[in-house]
Amino acid sequence: MLKIFSSFFVFMILAYPQSALSADIAAGEARYKETCINCHGPAGKGAGSFPKVSGKEISYTTDKLEAYRKGIKQGSNSFLMFPMAKPLTDEEIANLAAYLEGAKYNVE
Ligand code: HEC
Repeated sequence: MLKIFSSFFVFMILAYPQSALSADIAAGEARYKETCINCHGPAGKGAGSFPKVSGKEISYTTDKLEAYRKGIKQGSNSFLMFPMAKPLTDEEIANLAAYLEGAKYNVE
């Protein structure tokens, strides 16, 4: 029984990337509200020509933010994201991606 349990545990560790395990959703939300919300709107719902950034896979958001941080063009308006992504640490990117994956905008 213990053997089954421990192999399951090892499987869970291998199945999830470290960043997803250690990401702090509350910290991601706080960071999002500092700057990102000004363009991407509440809970990443998107606003005008600014894309929706919530509900995407963690790996998708992480890849995008890492590319912007390196200054690699993604779309025609990437120049707006470069200065936003530049100061982000790996930890902040992981937290933001974790928060945005599940962020939902509720009209109250
Ligand atoms: C000045 C406005 C602005 C701010 C502030 C801003 N963004 Fe963006 N963001 C954009 C624009 C414009 C794009 C589309 C860029 C392109 O064409 O490549 C974008 C694209 C993105 C994308 C990729 C979307 C996709 O599906 O291609 C992500 C993820 C993202 N932003 C996250 C963030 C996060 C996280 C922050 C805060 C650290 C942030 N943004 C702050 C304007 C902004």
